[in-house]
Amino acid sequence: MKKKNISTIVICVISSIFMLLITAVPIRLMAFDNEKTLIVYFSRVGNTQFSDDVDAVSSASLRKKNGKLAGNCEVLAKKISKLSGADIFEINVSEQYPEDYEETVDRASREQSDNARPELTSHVDNIENYDNIIIIYPVWWSTVPMPVFTFLEEYDFSGKDIYPIATHKGSYLGQSVNDIKKLCPDSDVHSGIPINGGSVDLIGIISFFIVLSWVSIAVCIILEKKLKPKSVNIRICTALPIIGSITIIACIIRMLI
Ligand SMILES: Cc1cc2nc3c(=O)[nH]c(=O)nc-3n(C[C@H](O)[C@H](O)[C@H](O)COP(=O)(O)O)c2cc1C
Repeated sequence: MKKKNISTIVICVISSIFMLLITAVPIRLMAFDNEKTLIVYFSRVGNTQFSDDVDAVSSASLRKKNGKLAGNCEVLAKKISKLSGADIFEINVSEQYPEDYEETVDRASREQSDNARPELTSHVDNIENYDNIIIIYPVWWSTVPMPVFTFLEEYDFSGKDIYPIATHKGSYLGQSVNDIKKLCPDSDVHSGIPINGGSVDLIGIISFFIVLSWVSIAVCIILEKKLKPKSVNIRICTALPIIGSITIIACIIRMLI
C-alpha cells in the first residue's frame, strides 16, 4: 500500500472518530423518548411588543430569522426540537416587556428584587405525559427570568429529568441551575449547558460541516482504491474532514466561552 493511501486512511479514521463524538450529541437527542420530552423556552423577543420600526431600535441581541425577529433561546429551542422531534412550548407573560432593552433590564431587576411571579398566558395541558424537560432560558441578572420561576412553580415536576440550557452574555449559568434545583427539589436537575447568546446561529454551521465531513469521509473510503494517491480529488476528500473538524471545534469553543 502506498504511503499516501495510508495517510488518507489515517486521516479518515481520525476524522471519523471525531465526527462520531460530535454526532453523539444529536444522536443522544434523538435517542430521548421524544414522545416524552418537552422543550420549554423563554425568550425576550417572544415576550416583547416591538413596534414596526424595530430595525431602528438600537437594542442588543435582536436578529431576524426568515424576516421575523427571533430570540437566542427561540433559535436554539427550535433547532433542538427540529433535531430531536420533541414537542416545544414557549413561556409567555401577560404583561409584555418594554421594547427598550435597558427598560427591560430595569423591570427584570425589579421583578427579581420583589421575588415576583409574572402571570403567564400559555400553559402546558399534559405535563404528566413528559418525563424529560429541556428548559432553555436567557440568563437574567445571573439567574432564570422570573417568568421561568412562575412556570417551574406551576407544575409538579417530581420524578422528572430537567435539562437546563442557558444563553448568556458572560455570566454563563450564574445561579440559574441552583435556583432550578430549589424550585424542583424532587426532580433530577442535570448540570446545565451555558451557550454564548451571540453564537447560537453557529449550530447551523456545525450541522453543515458535520454532513459535509461525513460525506467526504464516505467518498474517501469508497473511492480510495480507485483514486490515484496524488489526484486532486483524493486531496479534496481528505482535506474536507480536516477543515470540517477544525471549523466544528472552533464553533463549539465559540459557543461555550
Ligand atoms: C433583562 C436582562 C438581563 C440580563 N442579565 C444578564 C446577566 O446577568 N448575565 C448575562 O450573561 N447576560 C444577561 N443578559 C443577556 C441575555 O442573557 C442574553 O442576551 C440572552 O442570550 C438573550 O436570549 P433571548 O434573546 O432568547 O432573550 C440579560 C438580558 C436581559 C434582557
